[in-house]
Amino acid sequence: MDLAKVDQIVEKYGFDKNAVLAILQDIQVAYNYLPREAINKVSELLSLPLGQISSQATFFSSFSLTPRGEHIVTVCMGTACHVRGAPRVLSELERELKIDDGETTADGKFTIETVNCVGACALGPLVMVNGNYHGNIDTAEVSTLLSAYR
Ligand code: FES
Repeated sequence: MDLAKVDQIVEKYGFDKNAVLAILQDIQVAYNYLPREAINKVSELLSLPLGQISSQATFFSSFSLTPRGEHIVTVCMGTACHVRGAPRVLSELERELKIDDGETTADGKFTIETVNCVGACALGPLVMVNGNYHGNIDTAEVSTLLSAYR
């Protein structure tokens, strides 16, 4: 694994031991998840115990320790989206991509995730792809939505 980006990110923060969280966030953006090798490298570069870095990585649910796809498809399963058909939209996404919630396609293109309310209930059912909102999604629109990212 090429860890050059890890060196650059840690250097960007001036090897600041207090910037671990920001460093981990930047690494997740760069690799789309937190590779174990990257966590080891941060520990080495900052001369901090590996356990200290790992505990931050596992404490925050926004960090993913498993590889994620190039495109993150997030389905809101909050109450408003749920009653407006989010479960059907999720099923259609799972059928189209041939994976379940939390999984990544074999070609590494897509990962499906679910979240609770993101505060845009009027747009329900809401699907986000790489953070871009797609509101009032109908099951018939799922294929078209995905094709824009294939
Ligand atoms: S329930 Fe989905 S945005 Fe609020």
